[in-house]
Amino acid sequence: MNAKTVAVMVSGRGTNLKVILESVARGECPVDVKLVISDKGDAEALSIARNAGVPHVVYVDPENFAGREQFDAECAELLDRHGCQWIVLAGYMRILSSSFVSRFRGRIINIHPSLLPSFVGAKAVEDALEYGVKVSGCTVHLGDEVLDGGPILAQSVVPVLDGDTRDSLHARIQVEEHRLYPATLARMANEGFDIVGRRVVWKST
Ligand code: GAR
Repeated sequence: MNAKTVAVMVSGRGTNLKVILESVARGECPVDVKLVISDKGDAEALSIARNAGVPHVVYVDPENFAGREQFDAECAELLDRHGCQWIVLAGYMRILSSSFVSRFRGRIINIHPSLLPSFVGAKAVEDALEYGVKVSGCTVHLGDEVLDGGPILAQSVVPVLDGDTRDSLHARIQVEEHRLYPATLARMANEGFDIVGRRVVWKST
């Protein structure tokens, strides 16, 4: 089995990046993280990537670009230069331009802290709590033009408890994210899938 060459794009704490790198190091996730791109210079994810020995760790400053298209074109150039087959978004908080999405269609993977299609966007955990749902969770899905809208690869459910705050609910969701994201990447690499309509159908099923 050839390891998929992967770039991880991040904006923040990088705990999902960390568990993916740990899973790879344990031999449980057959991907090769060649490149980490952050749009935030102070993202903790950058030092996680450097400490783990990721070969290329790059901060791309949005201020240096006239707009989203130009920023994404710079990222696309990096992704192509390093031969990245998959683009794994792990807490990457920028909306992707449609030219970026069409260039890497089917190869962009995202994790979102809600049970999609409920609660898209940057405030998913607060929105679920305010709405009053009794379960929430996380979704790993393919990225497309629609925000948090691509075909769903995997989901995991957590309870919402009466005393929850945004932070306590997010912490419970992140426990599941940290299990689900590396496991889903491993399944993608080992098993593969077809897309039927909007449905992801795993090869072994
Ligand atoms: C994760 O909970 C992820 O689901 C969320 O950001 C967090 C990043 O955590 N992503 C989004 O909200 C994307 N819309 P991390 O930096 O510790 O991996």
